[in-house]
Amino acid sequence: MSKIVSLCKRRGFIFQSSEIYGGLKSAYDYGPLGAELKRNIAAEWWRNMVYERENVVGLDASIVMHPQVWQTSGHLAGFSDPLVDCLNCKERFRADKAPRSEPGSTVEYIQGGKAGGAKLKAPVTDKGYICPNCGAPTLSDERQFNLMFRTALGPVDPLAEVARELEGQSLTQSEIREKLEAAVKSSAVYLRPETAQSMFVQFLNVQQSMSMKVPFGIAQIGKSFRNEIVTEHFIFRSCEFEQMEMEFFCEPGTQKEWMDYWRRERMSWYQRYANDGAAFRFRQHEGSELAHYADDCYDIEFLYPWGWGELEGVASRTDYDLGKHAAESGVKLSYFDQNKPSPETGKPGWRYIPYVIEPAAGLTRSLLAFLLDAYTEEQGVDAKGETKTRVLLRLHPRLAPYKAAVLPLVGKDGQPELAMEIVREFRKRGINVSYDEKQSIGKRYARHDEIGTPYCLTIDGESLGDRSVTIRDRDTARQERISIDQALRTVQERLDALS
Ligand code: GAP
Repeated sequence: MSKIVSLCKRRGFIFQSSEIYGGLKSAYDYGPLGAELKRNIAAEWWRNMVYERENVVGLDASIVMHPQVWQTSGHLAGFSDPLVDCLNCKERFRADKAPRSEPGSTVEYIQGGKAGGAKLKAPVTDKGYICPNCGAPTLSDERQFNLMFRTALGPVDPLAEVARELEGQSLTQSEIREKLEAAVKSSAVYLRPETAQSMFVQFLNVQQSMSMKVPFGIAQIGKSFRNEIVTEHFIFRSCEFEQMEMEFFCEPGTQKEWMDYWRRERMSWYQRYANDGAAFRFRQHEGSELAHYADDCYDIEFLYPWGWGELEGVASRTDYDLGKHAAESGVKLSYFDQNKPSPETGKPGWRYIPYVIEPAAGLTRSLLAFLLDAYTEEQGVDAKGETKTRVLLRLHPRLAPYKAAVLPLVGKDGQPELAMEIVREFRKRGINVSYDEKQSIGKRYARHDEIGTPYCLTIDGESLGDRSVTIRDRDTARQERISIDQALRTVQERLDALS
């Protein structure tokens, strides 16, 4: 991981947000190459989920929605994690992720959790876990911490209202809390914690405006926000991230067969772009793990450096969401199939609330998985006989930020002009390439290996005479002399073949 983090910064993939001010917890900026990689992953997902299907259409919804959406969906009441404070070192952590320890057993820890502190011993409480930072069993009670970011809509100042109300009153903590909640409630809105809900509340508009027939899907890519108690592993779990979600509406009773279909589709999508297919697997949720709205759920997991972890969830969400939003809004979020007999009356025409299969992927998390999958170190011997490590990103060419690099051997003698002619030819075809004349050719090859550029085309003295170039393959480092036209075709054909 540390090698990936350092490569990301050095090569312009990912920077810490607001770095010059010391950074912000778990916030990241995607640099020039990271932005390209993210766009390419999103474009491949959209192509596969929307463009290649008759029955899936897209949506790009607001991040801030009517607060009733989150009331109805259950996020306001239940989208929370159990938060605990360590009374020894003051660390805040998630109870469900804390290291387990046998209740009653004695553990050792250091006072204050700082080097040089006194050694202490205490028994593990009935909670059965200890502080992940200092190992102490002296912990506060658990309290539910809602993960949604709350903000205010409109030119309101809820604090001024509270200040007015509280002036001159002597109140208890809980009375003050109640007044604060009441003051912020009228203007409170939330940053969405998932893109999914907008696809449920826009179900009818999309279905009617596009004359969609069940089964059909609504797909969306966009930002989501969660005030995570623990952010971890670089961009794996952050407070601001991007999701690629699809809600697939199907007939009640067909959810199992669609679940099987979407599981297969989604796994094969990852496999298509990965080098090591064995680093992806399914994990079915146990009954006790299932969300209250789901009748089945599989995670697609990836083998991260710290072990298997979630990459995408494929959930069978029943008719829960449409049913709840219909009941709360009073709008019939149902579908009428005039060709099917109603199961109740046996007469033609069946109105029902569709069931939903939801493949919910993390775009930023996929980016991390594809980087980890692509990162390769190869030992080789250079021209001087010295052992050298070659670092390369074996990114799938459709994901790679640049599809080729065009490199004049020297920055004179007409070579830059010919190189630019080739660059323009690629750009005309919508292919993103890099023109690079800085440093020695060896250093340029190394740079492009490290950022995952599949091909380097080198222009030399001969090129001007016979319009030929050397094409170097990133993965094999093999070089071949071919014509410029053939080089253009090779890059184009490789991209087409892999679609
Ligand atoms: N609508 C269902 C839903 O949002 P989820 O499992 O909570 O399901 C789906 O999220 C995916 O979004 C996850 O599999 C993960 O890839 C990504 N994701 C969730 N929380 C994240 C976070 N804090 N940081 C980065 N990615 C996250």
